[in-house]
Order: sequence, then C-alpha cells, then structure tokens
Amino acid sequence: MHSDIERILVSEEEIQEKCRELGKQLAEEYEGRFPLAIGVLKGALPFMSDILRHMDTYLEMDFMDVSSYGGGTRSSGEVKIEKDLNTKVEGRDLLIIEDIIDSGLTLSYLVDLFKYRKARSIKVVTLLDKPEGRTADIKADVVGFKVPNEFVVGYGLDYQEKYRNLPYIGVLKPHIYSEE
Ligand code: XMP
Ligand code: MG
Repeated sequence: MHSDIERILVSEEEIQEKCRELGKQLAEEYEGRFPLAIGVLKGALPFMSDILRHMDTYLEMDFMDVSSYGGGTRSSGEVKIEKDLNTKVEGRDLLIIEDIIDSGLTLSYLVDLFKYRKARSIKVVTLLDKPEGRTADIKADVVGFKVPNEFVVGYGLDYQEKYRNLPYIGVLKPHIYSEE
C-alpha cells in the first residue's frame, strides 16, 4: 500500500471482479447494437479500460473532458467542456462511463447535453457512487460500489493530480491535506 494512504476502501481484486461482472452484464444489454462508450477524462480511464475488455460486442469509444468552474473538492455545477467528443451522438446508444458520482452536477450536465444532441438512449455506469453528496436529481443506471461521503483517491481518482495510478480505491492520511 502507498505510504500516503490511510486505508483501502475497495481492493484491486474487488475492482477487477466487479469490472468482469459489469462488463458481461453490459455486453448482454447491448447485444446486437453498436453503442458509443464515452469515457469522462481523466478519472474514468482505468475503469473504462477494465470494463470494456469484458464486453465481447461491437462498440465505439470516445472521450470527453469536462471540469467544474471554481476548483476545490466540490463541483460548482457550472461545467466547462475541455475536450468534446469527436463523434456525433445523434441516434446513438450512449454508455457514459464515470469514475464517481458525487453531487451529480457533472453527470446531469452531460446527460442534458447528450439529450439535446438527440442521443437515442443514454445509460450511465459509474465505478463509485457517493449518494450522500447528491444535490442533482440524478442516478447512475449501473453502480460498482457505494462509498461514504469521504474524499477518495486511486484507480483514476486524484488529489492534486496524484494517485490516479493506484490499482485500488483508498482514503488519504489526513496530514496529506493539512500540509498544503
Ligand atoms: P459531481 O459532484 O459533479 O462530481 O458528481 C463528479 C466529479 O467530482 C470529482 N470527485 C472526486 N474526485 N475523489 C476524487 O478524486 C472524490 O472523492 C471525488 N468526489 C468527486 C470527480 O472528478 C468526479 O468525476
Ligand atoms: Mg471526473
């Protein structure tokens, strides 16, 4: 375990097992179709990679990078598109892949945007769900793990751009935050 991590919330083995299970489930749901899998950068990258390798179907991949105005650890709800899709979503079956849903404001912005762009269907899969953080009236269709209302890092999730490369989800030691 990395020396900055206080405890592991979801182990590497649990994540990998979940990716296998969800990937197979999604492959069945999209059988005979050609969905567009949309990874929300950067956090969803490891999850997207691990889940899609278990989907034995035709699919297309694209990426979107969005950020909330304001910074900090809470989203402000005002979302800025840093990188848009290269693919037209009109008439497509979309599978949005997220790392975590907290307030839900980012996801709610994306869903509204893709509805406006006339997607045929929109499904959301998130590795983590923090239901206590929710302010927007939205939920994911498929959730890997529920986590408590704590700031988590690892497996795509960062604190000041660090820890995305850890293979598990963990909580940082308090002194890492307080040394700012
Ligand atoms: P909202 O609040 O819009 O937030 O649902 C979604 C985005 O906020 C980030 N986020 C976190 N990042 N640890 C992180 O590293 C966390 O505990 C956490 N909670 C929210 C993340 O970028 C997510 O996509
Ligand atoms: Mg994110």
